[in-house]
Order: sequence, then structure tokens, then C-alpha cells
Amino acid sequence: MQPSAAKMSKKASQKSGGLLVLHGPNLNLLGAREPEIYGRETLADIDRRLAATARVAGVVLTSFQSNHEGALVDRIQQAGREGLGFIVFNPAAYTHTSVALRDALAAVKIPFIEVHLSNVHARERFRRHSYFAEIAVGTIAGLGSQGYDLALAYALTRLTGGRGA
Ligand code: DQA
Repeated sequence: MQPSAAKMSKKASQKSGGLLVLHGPNLNLLGAREPEIYGRETLADIDRRLAATARVAGVVLTSFQSNHEGALVDRIQQAGREGLGFIVFNPAAYTHTSVALRDALAAVKIPFIEVHLSNVHARERFRRHSYFAEIAVGTIAGLGSQGYDLALAYALTRLTGGRGA
């Protein structure tokens, strides 16, 4: 019997192995928001650069930002259905509060790197705890927007079967 079209397309997308860059609340304000902490680049600048790097490597990269916890949970669940291969995630303030986002990542079992622009360990005490660090492949904090580039470089080696996988 022929597999149904729905099954076929699901199977095809599961093999897609694409990459999701996920940004949490207030990161839409990058560039204007506390630039002494978060830098002067906008989120669009960062996303554009990451997309260009992924394109060169032949990997499909999608970026998504939301100020809403549920929307981020939905996007992670969607990534699971799409069969994406890796997530680069800056959960922003939800880093320190969100069991729901951690559970979503644990449910889809997509490997991810937690990224923070600022050094969360050198700031207020409440920023030192992350609900994600324990289940992340790794965490990058304090390197500004370069942290995203470094996380992406690692993800690309994993997705394309290169060194570091
Ligand atoms: C952040 C650090 C978080 O503590 C903060 O709530 C953010 C951004 C960072 O990228 O440095 O919104 O994740």
C-alpha cells in the first residue's frame, strides 16, 4: 500500500534537519534596549548574518522571536513535527522562570544550545539560575551576539556531519 501524502510529507520533513534560532521576550528590542549590556546590533542584523552563514553551509535556518511563552512553546512543538535538527535558543527572561519551555524542549528532544548575550553569571543573582542549562548541549553567555555565531558554527558541524559532531 502507498503511504498517504500526509505521511510522506511528514517523513520528508523529518529528514529536513533544519535549524531554528529562537529568541525570547524583549529581544525584539535589541539595538535600543540597554545597549551597554546587549549591544547595538538589532535582532534583524543578527538573524540576517546567521541566515547567510547557514545558507553557505546548505542548511535551512528559520528565526523566530516572541514575547509570549505559549508562542515559544508552540514553535518548539512545531520544530518537533518538522523534524528540525538543532535549536539555538536565547530564552531571555524565561531562562530564569520557564518550566513550560524546558518541558517543550525535553518533549521534542531536539538538541539545543542556550545563548545569552550578556554574562548572566556576572549580573543579578536571579539570572544565575537557568531552567535550560541542565538539558542543553551547552551554554554560551557573555560573548555578545558572537555567541549566536559560535552556537551556529557548532550546530552546522553537527548537522552536516563535520568535525565536532
Ligand atoms: C539574556 C539574559 C537574561 O537574563 C535577560 O532576561 C534577557 C537577555 C541575554 O541574552 O543576555 O532578556 O538572555
